Amino acid sequence: MKRIGVLTSGGDAPGMNAAIRAVVRQALHEGLKVTGILRGYTGMINGEFMEFDSQSVADIIHRGGTILHTARCQEMYREEGRLRAVTQLQAAGIEGLVVIGGDGSFRGALHLHELGIPIIGIPGTIDNDINGTEYTLGFDTAVNTVVEAINKIRDTANSLERIFLIEVMGRHSGQLALAAGIAGGAEAVLVPEQPFVLEELVTRLQRSVKREKPHSIILVAEGVGSATAIGDKIKEIIGLDNRVTVLGHVQRGGTPTALDRLLASRFGTRAVEELLAGHSGMMIGIRGDQVISIPLADVVGRSREINSGVFELMKVLAL
Ligand code: F6P
Repeated sequence: MKRIGVLTSGGDAPGMNAAIRAVVRQALHEGLKVTGILRGYTGMINGEFMEFDSQSVADIIHRGGTILHTARCQEMYREEGRLRAVTQLQAAGIEGLVVIGGDGSFRGALHLHELGIPIIGIPGTIDNDINGTEYTLGFDTAVNTVVEAINKIRDTANSLERIFLIEVMGRHSGQLALAAGIAGGAEAVLVPEQPFVLEELVTRLQRSVKREKPHSIILVAEGVGSATAIGDKIKEIIGLDNRVTVLGHVQRGGTPTALDRLLASRFGTRAVEELLAGHSGMMIGIRGDQVISIPLADVVGRSREINSGVFELMKVLAL
């Protein structure tokens, strides 16, 4: 193997740049050449390539987003698009690939692997919803962003003795909401993986009011539904005034935490080692502080489950 390619795909996540840097530096260290593929699979199909050298990844470890840009590519869902991608890779002399992204990106990676392209995935998404790894790049940074927002909202919630609902990203997953809810000391966390009974939440809030708790903070994972709609129902049923904050894309940006940078560095170097060892169709992950690699076929389409013990813990601590 003489040349590898690296791309970021799907939603960006803090730590992607640190992973690109690690892939490039490790590959150059091993005597490989590295092509950066712009705009994910879209750029691959269109042949949007750039040459990486050691200097081109200087000063990016601390930057959020991705210097390679990213995209969600519909053409990869069709055979024709995938064959065009393979032709472009062959024409550019790319003999192995590192794909940094989430579940959708790994579906594309699995297709390319089946078409004979050596490929290794690195999980990068703030959602932490990837099966087989305890952490994905960007999750820790996003948890910290949400906790910071909770801290700020708590000040005003306490002053005006109000109920606040905070809507958190995560697509179909409640991992981000749950982790941030526990770390931020929220009074309740609603996640799509656990049944949500409005009456239970209302009873909880009434209990808080009786105990003269000055405020309540409820985290709503976006997969549960609209926090505004839940807030309106609370107002309708028990007449309690509340405010809603939808955190939105602020959760995807920002300088990656040291933990995300460290994880990205470990994932990036391991991905190159896997390619050099002749492996393909694998994803790098972390379990119990050990960097591991598992088949992409065991990852794709299988969301990481919520730890029900952690969910119960949140309920006890939130009382
Ligand atoms: O997968 C990352 C994520 O930020 C999800 O949490 C969210 O549902 C989605 O991407 C938003 O996507 P977009 O930026 O395309 O609106």
